[in-house]
Amino acid sequence: MSVRTKVIAGNWKLNKDVHQTEELLTGLKISLTFDLKGVRVIVCPPFTSLETANRCTKGSVMSLGAQNMYHEDEGAFTGEISPKMLKSVGCEYVILGHSERRQIFGETDELINKKVKKAIASGLVPIVCVGETLDQREKNVTSQIVTTQVRGVLKDISAEQVQKIIVAYEPVWAIGTGRNATPQQAEEVHLLIRTLLAELYTPAAAGDVIIQYGGSVKPDNAAELLWQPNVDGALVGGACLKADSFSAIIKAAVR
Ligand code: PGA
Repeated sequence: MSVRTKVIAGNWKLNKDVHQTEELLTGLKISLTFDLKGVRVIVCPPFTSLETANRCTKGSVMSLGAQNMYHEDEGAFTGEISPKMLKSVGCEYVILGHSERRQIFGETDELINKKVKKAIASGLVPIVCVGETLDQREKNVTSQIVTTQVRGVLKDISAEQVQKIIVAYEPVWAIGTGRNATPQQAEEVHLLIRTLLAELYTPAAAGDVIIQYGGSVKPDNAAELLWQPNVDGALVGGACLKADSFSAIIKAAVR
């Protein structure tokens, strides 16, 4: 198995105005002075903070991502943001298909697939989220649900393109609940995703895909989750809003 980089991304969600953005990123720059070998750090503030974040992260170890985008470059799409706009403020990554987008805003695998294709065509790295609800886990349909989602969001994506994608496995029941998946539960689904990718593409392509875990990742559970064989990083919500907790999670990912 290839040695994959660990990728730690902070999903700020609907938090932090411009002033608070500057504060948090300043704190992170002070905290992130340890050797980050083998770890990539991404921060994903809200749209209104991206320009500030771009300025604050320049020359730092942090890369910038957005939390969503539309699959067109411009036009009559009130309220939407394009990949071109994201790139103009320094974004390299974009979270797509987060469960909150799916559940609250009705995003489907089909729409997310359009966004994934557009992101890749635009030179952004999509962080594509999949994961089952509590009800689905209890009904023992986790593998079917995750398989359908992965197939759906990656429709018509080539083997070459898939290696540029980050997949985030985020069990919905673990998001914001303080109840993280156990390392075994996470590894089981990560392995399922990697096996599926090997079937859909090639084992070599599947071996290169970064698969992050997300859902109540905290400093005290990060290491055991991050060091499962098929867990290549974390998508962090609540714990990324404070410099000390986010940097502690990043530290847990350093080899
Ligand atoms: P959480 O959120 O870490 O607060 O559970 C994770 C996410 O939604 O990406």
